[in-house]
Amino acid sequence: MDEDISSRETGGRPAAVVAGIGTWLPPRVVTNDDLAAELDTSDAWIRTRTGIARRHVIDSGMATSDLAVEAGSRALKSAGGPDADAVLVATTTPDRPCPATAPDVASRLGLGAVPAFDVAAVCSGFVYGLAVASGLIADGIARRVVVIGADTYSTILDPGDRTTRAVFGDGAGAVVLRAGTADEPGAVGPFDLGSDGSLAELITVPAGGSRQRSTPGAPVDPGDHYFQMQGKRVFRGAVEHMAQSARSVLSRAGWSLEQVDHVVAHQANQRILDAVAEELGLARDRMVSNIEHVGNTSAASIPLALADAARAGVLRPGARLLLTAFGGGLTWGSTVLRWPIGVSAVTGP
Ligand code: UT7
Repeated sequence: MDEDISSRETGGRPAAVVAGIGTWLPPRVVTNDDLAAELDTSDAWIRTRTGIARRHVIDSGMATSDLAVEAGSRALKSAGGPDADAVLVATTTPDRPCPATAPDVASRLGLGAVPAFDVAAVCSGFVYGLAVASGLIADGIARRVVVIGADTYSTILDPGDRTTRAVFGDGAGAVVLRAGTADEPGAVGPFDLGSDGSLAELITVPAGGSRQRSTPGAPVDPGDHYFQMQGKRVFRGAVEHMAQSARSVLSRAGWSLEQVDHVVAHQANQRILDAVAEELGLARDRMVSNIEHVGNTSAASIPLALADAARAGVLRPGARLLLTAFGGGLTWGSTVLRWPIGVSAVTGP
């Protein structure tokens, strides 16, 4: 029995254990030079300020659910088959405002009449989704949950905004969580989650909701339908909250920073990852990073980083991982797990 995360945390109820992981990136790659051909930017600026070299972007006709289905089906394959009794999709770019994207994804995954709903916590959505799924499993509502982070920011970015176009990419990543025990490798938790709605305007798509409606005859500024971000303030918030939340969850888990093998933080910006490492007093090489190849994929970023590190052999079974995320809302969240034994990531295409 691992005494760090004892059954005290789950009150003797089932814990959520990672049983499979899958990802999918749209085939089309947009390099920094591609962006520089249409915007006033350069490969040198983007690499230096963000660490990003390229990102994947959907073609027109494709939507978030398409990526979510691809990643979800790979996670189910990784977990041994199409068996799950709940589906959560963390996304900021649902196929449409209503209904949620998850029921469509559950149906296309062939999972039948299972509960399915979206989690709206922007870039923290995947960690929030893990927490919600853990609750469903602990309460006996579900025994096997697909948690998908899927986003297509290319559909909400202002084509003329060189800053956000440089940062964000499209993608999806998913895990299957099964009911198990808190002492086995792969068990997720405890969690630290938080928010600060007084800073909602730092990351926002102002129009299209109930505040600024898309009503005929009541036109809104077309720019208000695009994603808007106050980069510098978001940068500071990301470093501060991910470091603070990381410390909180470690304290709840009874782990020391020295015991953590790898930190898998939301891939917002390489400079943010470096600053979080510095804030925590960690060597930079303990921060998992795949941002160079995929950019900031919002809710998909943590499962994509996990799968890449697992496939590269960086995550040995039993390795102690700290996941931490930050995003619009503002929201943040962290959790810990030991990497499961015998789980191979299925990636695509
Ligand atoms: O996913 C969670 C939420 N998102 C994040 O965590 C992102 C957090 N923020 C960031 O990563 C960074 O703030 C950015 C990458 C978005 C921007 O980097 P920065 O170092 O904060 O740049 P800045 O916004 O302060 O801009 C510095 C300069 C400006 O020019 P002036 O005013 O100094 O003349 C910008 O206009 O860089 C200019 N600039 C660019 N230049 C070339 C901004 N974007 C670009 C660009 N190419 N793509």
